[in-house]
Amino acid sequence: MFKRILIGSSVLILASCGGSGGGNVVTPPPVSTNQAPVVGAANADQNGQVGFDFNYDASQGNTTFSDADGDALTISVTFNPTNVGLSANGATITGKPSRLTDVTVTVTANDGNGGTATDTFVIAVGVDQNTVLAKFGGNIDLTNLPSYDNPTIPSYITKLNDNGNPVTDAGAILGRVLFYDTALSIDDTVSCSTCHIQAQGFSDIDVLSGGVLGGETRRHSMRLINTQYANEINFFWDERALSHEDQETMPMQDFNEHGFSGTNGRPNLDDLITKLEALEYYQELFRFVFLDTNITEERLQIALAQFTKSIVSFDAKYDTGRAQVSSDTASFPNFTAAENAGKDLFFTPPPRGGAGCFRCHGAPEFDITPNMNGHNGIVAEAADPTLSDFTNTRAPTLRDLVKPDGSPNGQMMHNGSKTTFREVIDHYNNIPVPAAEPARTNFLNTIDLRLLMRSATPPGLNLSDAEKDQLEAFLRTLTGANVYTDPKWSNPF
Ligand code: HEC
Ligand code: HEC
Repeated sequence: MFKRILIGSSVLILASCGGSGGGNVVTPPPVSTNQAPVVGAANADQNGQVGFDFNYDASQGNTTFSDADGDALTISVTFNPTNVGLSANGATITGKPSRLTDVTVTVTANDGNGGTATDTFVIAVGVDQNTVLAKFGGNIDLTNLPSYDNPTIPSYITKLNDNGNPVTDAGAILGRVLFYDTALSIDDTVSCSTCHIQAQGFSDIDVLSGGVLGGETRRHSMRLINTQYANEINFFWDERALSHEDQETMPMQDFNEHGFSGTNGRPNLDDLITKLEALEYYQELFRFVFLDTNITEERLQIALAQFTKSIVSFDAKYDTGRAQVSSDTASFPNFTAAENAGKDLFFTPPPRGGAGCFRCHGAPEFDITPNMNGHNGIVAEAADPTLSDFTNTRAPTLRDLVKPDGSPNGQMMHNGSKTTFREVIDHYNNIPVPAAEPARTNFLNTIDLRLLMRSATPPGLNLSDAEKDQLEAFLRTLTGANVYTDPKWSNPF
């Protein structure tokens, strides 16, 4: 096609005028004969669904725009504020919307001669969640999720170990359903929440937790609080899980816990995945999070880890005080004298008369140090105290050891051998070293040397009764309230 546009060309008109020698040059306005395209049939708003293929011709078979002088129109498309996984080839929009949002689409027709026209419409991305709504009786609505991804974290909290898998609302809600679903066990009786109970700080009151078909755990359950606000990246009392994500599918494959061990004739993880893929609410949930219905071990880990990472507790009396001062060693204005004295003991190393707890349970997260070079003197196996287990070098955060009413969240230590704070403090005050050989040598060779710092045998802190009470008073300030009741971490079934 060829068309002349007279923009910029000029006609000189020479007027002779009394021999003045000068000339007037007149430039007329540009003249164009081009006619810009116009919107013919505007696009109506469209609907998409997360994880389902979307395919739409924004030119509507070349009827969206018309051009009076028959120019071939070039169509381009832009998305605002984001394309959510959609892309355009000419006027054809394809792709799988990745999340719930309204996308404003601007379609522009260009006639190649400077003439343009635009049409805008909205793609409203929704979600297929009929089964989810029915199954959870409205407890879960994917279009109106609780906020998991943006908790209020105090500014003095600096440790973050999200392992490249940060919490999202979508991932956490899927993780929550998995966490509470007894379908994850071979006989439909056990879920993660059987042994990690919200009202118990996500631990268990039993020393050893009951799994499938009379199975029992080897160690005491662990509270799942503030797990990503920590320096230690390995999980379990003995740190055998190399990451949070790694940990999450281990209970499913444990013979005694969820039972999908693949041993002794029991089904394995693949069987569990097949079982879950047949449940329609998981088809909807996995599509919502991962854009298709496939279930893999990695996806189970990602979603469950996002849920457990989302469980946070930073509303303790300690936090109220810590927010008002510049360091842990300053006196907290909201603390009693005993609580402040107990805090001093926690943060002062033994050579200077303190208890030195901070060297392994670092504030303000109270997570365990990654630099444990041995156990803490608690070595008896839970099921058979005549056997020793020297491998336990991790503890959950010391936050929320007790409930808001002061009663314990179950026993303490990997073997659940300590029920009261006084028992814990007495242990560190005077660590019982076995008298007989080779138990004695084995014990001393494997204990964290910081506990032997005074090199006394038995090593001891020499705390007075009053000091023990003060240390206990401080440990009690580490308990929050919201984590025990917030519905966003509760059972959705
Ligand atoms: C039958 C009881 C039981 C079930 C079911 C169970 N757990 Fe545990 N959980 C435990 C015990 C016991 C430990 C400590 C085990 C150890 O260290 O050897 C633990 C430890 C953990 C830890 C490590 C915490 C830390 O700070 O190191 C995480 C995370 C965890 N469980 C998450 C889960 C998830 C997710 C599920 C469901 C897929 C689950 N648990 C199912 C009993 C259970
Ligand atoms: C050398 C490092 C170290 C020091 C110092 C230390 N701890 Fe621990 N603590 C640990 C380890 C490791 C565990 C987990 C051990 C286990 O269960 O076998 C633990 C467990 C605990 C637990 C139980 C946690 C739970 O969730 O059940 C409490 C409470 C505790 N310590 C309090 C203290 C106090 C109070 C002090 C100071 C008097 C202290 N610790 C000093 C390493 C240490």
